[in-house]
Amino acid sequence: MHGPFGLAAGFDKNAAGIDGMAMLGFDHVEIGTVTAQPQPGNPKRRLFRLVADRALINRMGFNNEGSAAVAARLAARRPAFRTTVGVNIGKTKVVPETEAVADYVTSTERLAAHADYLVVNVSSPNTPGLRNLQAVDHLRPLLTAVREAADRTVTGRRVPLLVKIAPDLADEDVDAVADLAVELGLDGIIATNTTIARDGLGLTSPSRLTAETGGLSGAPLKARSLEVLRRLYARVGDRLTLVGVGGIETADDVWERILAGATLVQGYSAFIYRGPFWCREIHRGLAARLAASPYATLAEAVGAEAAA
Ligand SMILES: Cc1cc2nc3c(=O)[nH]c(=O)nc-3n(C[C@H](O)[C@H](O)[C@H](O)COP(=O)(O)O)c2cc1C
Repeated sequence: MHGPFGLAAGFDKNAAGIDGMAMLGFDHVEIGTVTAQPQPGNPKRRLFRLVADRALINRMGFNNEGSAAVAARLAARRPAFRTTVGVNIGKTKVVPETEAVADYVTSTERLAAHADYLVVNVSSPNTPGLRNLQAVDHLRPLLTAVREAADRTVTGRRVPLLVKIAPDLADEDVDAVADLAVELGLDGIIATNTTIARDGLGLTSPSRLTAETGGLSGAPLKARSLEVLRRLYARVGDRLTLVGVGGIETADDVWERILAGATLVQGYSAFIYRGPFWCREIHRGLAARLAASPYATLAEAVGAEAAA
């Protein structure tokens, strides 16, 4: 399927179901987050449905088989479909923050060759200290090292590198990450991960659920994710590929992100609520949106709102 809409990270953590997801119509599948060492994640229960809010709270904590096992699975894969595979990497929980760079570099060396694009995830709220890596002083050496490791490992092509950011960053920090990404020659930014805020919730989800620790995703995240995307596009324009994620439910939501500057759009939570044909509905709705618009191609529509 060709379209701008893909499956966000966290659904297929170990690259076990890429073809299945492609069959459901996802243009791309971002696997992971994968860490250098295998780890079990947080104790269960760790995922909660806030049905009335069309939202989830999760504190999975990067449960995954580790980058060696995931690399082996990707290497053995005989794709039935031509799907773009993004590989999202993060820090092993037991590795101290001071050794984070080496942990990401290990995963990069193992996985970059299997990635159509690589994502440095510094925005999950469920690994203690991870989001500190979004500070430019930490992010600069991290992204530089991952870029070098990818270039060292993969010859004959340059693996695109993106960074995934939290919606909880202050606006100035969003700008700072954007400037750094341009300066370092990154390819793009994924905005956003889940939020630790509890804004945008209705009054119907029980407080025992809304009080659960973890990242909130789904409908309540929509406004802030869109706001971050608009801010990024205003800052960097076409110099980076922006990927919009957070609270996408309908083709109209996707269209809104495209007009705001996203080249690609992803979702996760609404897949849980809307079921297996969700992605096809989105792509079909989007085609109708485009046909009814003044734009000949989706590429023309990217950022059109800012240009108007
Ligand atoms: C259960 C669950 C697990 C997730 N795991 C990851 C992850 O491992 N890495 C990551 O970058 N994002 C992860 N995410 C965040 C999603 O990729 C996405 O950024 C976020 O959920 C917002 O999109 P949505 O509102 O469409 O769900 C996870 C989200 C959920 C709900």
